Amino acid sequence: MLKTKRLELVGFDVKYANDLFELWSDFEVIKFTFTPLMTTIDECINYIEHQISRTNKDFIDRFVILLNNKAIGMVGCICMDKENYVFGLYYQISRVYWGCGYASEAASAILQYVLDAYPNAIFRAEAVSENSASAAVLKKIGLKQTHIEKNGFMRNDFELDLIHYTNA
Ligand SMILES: CC(C)(COP(=O)(O)OP(=O)(O)OC[C@H]1O[C@@H](n2cnc3c(N)ncnc32)[C@H](O)[C@@H]1OP(=O)(O)O)[C@@H](O)C(=O)NCCC(=O)NCCS
Repeated sequence: MLKTKRLELVGFDVKYANDLFELWSDFEVIKFTFTPLMTTIDECINYIEHQISRTNKDFIDRFVILLNNKAIGMVGCICMDKENYVFGLYYQISRVYWGCGYASEAASAILQYVLDAYPNAIFRAEAVSENSASAAVLKKIGLKQTHIEKNGFMRNDFELDLIHYTNA
């Protein structure tokens, strides 16, 4: 478990299904991500179980974000290239909690957690061109824009440019 000033970052557990349903049943939250839009708690439980099965067991790489024991989002920093210590960062926060600094707080904590274990870690992240909130988070935590991938994000019937960021 990781702790920040206001948040706790804990492993995925089906006990957070009701809270995470608020996150994953909201198209405004998931529209710029690859998370499926969910309409039932069962879908949510399945997705949590999927996250548990994909969690790296030696070095936890994805967390549920808790605020006063309520799950308000998730954050992950997944190893994409073991030889070069390259990690991919992502995060989601329930809409009612947007704008309170929680994404930056959780993202900073997970970057520090990875750096403590891998001091030479290279972080990568992407933000869809229309996702100014995510771009602001990445800037705030110190990542820099590298390039824009034309139509790099595709979901359902829309294609958008993808802006790539790194600390390297
Ligand atoms: C992106 C997201 C995680 C931001 O969460 P958040 O907790 O509201 O972000 P923070 O409060 O930490 O904000 C960080 C910075 O972004 C700015 N910001 C927040 N929302 C913004 C918006 N809509 N437009 C522009 N800037 C914005 C904040 O002002 C803050 O900067 P500041 O401290 O200099 O004022 C949230 O909007 C979300 O969950 N979106 C849907 C999921 C998603 O798109 N995830 C990213 C793709 S992996």
